[in-house]
Amino acid sequence: MKALVLAGGKGTRLRPLTHTSAKQLVPVANKPVLYYGLEAIRDAGITNVGVIVGETAAEVRDAIGDGSAFGMEVTYIPQESPLGLAHCVLIARDFLGDEPFVMYLGDNFLVGGISDLVDAFGAGGHDAQILLTRVAEPQFYGVAELGPSGEIIGLEEKPARPRSDLAIVGVYSFSPAVHDAVRAIEPSARGELEITDAIQWLIRNGYSVQSHMVTGYWRDTGRLQDMLECNRIVLEPIERDVRGTVDAMSEITGRVVIEPGAVVDNSILRGPIIVAADSKIVSSYVGPFTSIGPGCVVQNAEIEYSIVLGGSSVIGVSRIAHSLIGRNVEVSRAAGVSNTHQLMVGDHSRIQVGR
Ligand code: DAU
Repeated sequence: MKALVLAGGKGTRLRPLTHTSAKQLVPVANKPVLYYGLEAIRDAGITNVGVIVGETAAEVRDAIGDGSAFGMEVTYIPQESPLGLAHCVLIARDFLGDEPFVMYLGDNFLVGGISDLVDAFGAGGHDAQILLTRVAEPQFYGVAELGPSGEIIGLEEKPARPRSDLAIVGVYSFSPAVHDAVRAIEPSARGELEITDAIQWLIRNGYSVQSHMVTGYWRDTGRLQDMLECNRIVLEPIERDVRGTVDAMSEITGRVVIEPGAVVDNSILRGPIIVAADSKIVSSYVGPFTSIGPGCVVQNAEIEYSIVLGGSSVIGVSRIAHSLIGRNVEVSRAAGVSNTHQLMVGDHSRIQVGR
């Protein structure tokens, strides 16, 4: 069995972060989302992995290398533009050969691994296997309609009027039959070759397509609130591990990870929190479910339920919450003016200020 990991595409919903970096590399608990997927694939015993890359190819290659760090062998498959998930299968034809494979969307986050699913597919003799989960806003996903005995009646991509609340999760298993399907379908209204249409084609042409309900936690990390929620889920069970320098004035409560080289002075930290190497927390409060990346400074500030990427500083600001702060960002208090917000913000940024 091989795996096809999709790490191309556009990260429209996570702009401006995704202007400069791949959405699959935004960190959850200081580790890129994509790594969780690769680890799940490796843990399922799959070591031959194709990775679809687009305009952020250089960054993805830097992050994964030849795959040996994950115990796998990686083949990069460049996609000239994001023409759809089924297009990814089309261009991976030579890599995939006639083997069954798992297709994993690089921005999906699934707790509990995929070993059971891979085993079930191997044993089942089906042509495709999809995973489903109930969601509050099915219109943003591929949606499945099931019959009385759980059989799939129909699949639709982001329908305006969803026929169910069962979203298609971004981990699929396929037999080589899918290659006929991706060749047969036409681009959708949004101009993409949809994998949902390819699976629908398989059903229509008498192939066997199986669905499983996801019992564990799943999120598509394309949106801010989903990123923060994944961060919370990963931080929740971490164990306390303080290896940085913490002064006597600081108060550290609960499950807090402070990596070597990080410094905490005169601050209150309430876990779960992770503070990466070479960051400084000075005279500040850091609250639950916060990930601080490497080389950051948090000084005279309060922050909680947030993700801060490497090299950023938050100085003299109270209180930041539910926020995602990119790399090398400076957040500070405006000098000499009260009740004023002074901003220099990149394109497609989102700022929500309190009173
Ligand atoms: O997350 C689950 C959803 O993923 C499913 O419910 C939908 O049925 C499925 O179509 C997909 O929808 P999205 O709109 O969320 O897909 P997105 O464009 O975000 O692409 C998913 C991943 O695949 C992402 O890591 C980028 C990558 N990709 C995407 C396209 C369109 C590529 O590598 N190449 C592409 O051409």
